[in-house]
Amino acid sequence: MILKEIAPVARHAVGIDISRGMLGQAHDRGLEVVEGSATALPFADGSFDFVYSFKVLAHVEGIHQALEEVSRVLRPGGQAALEFYNRHSLRYLIKRLKKPHKVSDETTDDQVFTRYDRLADVRGYLPPSLALEDVRGVRVLTPFAQAHRVPLVSTALAWAEHQARDKRLTARLGGFLVVICRKL
Ligand SMILES: C[S@@+](CC[C@H](N)C(=O)[O-])C[C@H]1O[C@@H](n2cnc3c(N)ncnc32)[C@H](O)[C@@H]1O
Repeated sequence: MILKEIAPVARHAVGIDISRGMLGQAHDRGLEVVEGSATALPFADGSFDFVYSFKVLAHVEGIHQALEEVSRVLRPGGQAALEFYNRHSLRYLIKRLKKPHKVSDETTDDQVFTRYDRLADVRGYLPPSLALEDVRGVRVLTPFAQAHRVPLVSTALAWAEHQARDKRLTARLGGFLVVICRKL
């Protein structure tokens, strides 16, 4: 949970989730979280210097509305780091080949709404008030997360991922695309 890292260094950091179970886990870690949807953020206009979202927007069907909300709650000049699942990636290819797996006792991952985007799709979702400034790629070369648990392989992969994530061409092939935007 990224909020755990950000909360100690931010003046004020607050997270949202639509699921009570997820909110309970964050609460238990002493984090400030509120219940709300990405498509109707429970915050006033211009309340934040920085907004981030990881592993959520790919599961939100009303993506245009969610990004309008990111823009609304940012102050002018504020920045957002928004993560999307990338259709142009090794991770997507491998997901297509794999059988569905359980994400809870009753649910498999193919039953959860999940969108895989191209960078061009992401550009199309951004409202005119959010300017795209940069793109970073996470998990460009890693075939599956478990590879990072294998000694030596993990060291080599970590080095290679570090090289790949910031370079213009390879960043665009990350399993996760992190798009950095500024509120105009
Ligand atoms: C894969 S989990 C990631 C959770 C957390 N961001 C993390 O990285 O540990 C996806 C989360 O998105 C939340 N979610 C799905 N749709 C949402 C929406 N419209 N608004 C807010 N949260 C939503 C789910 O409840 C779930 O907790």
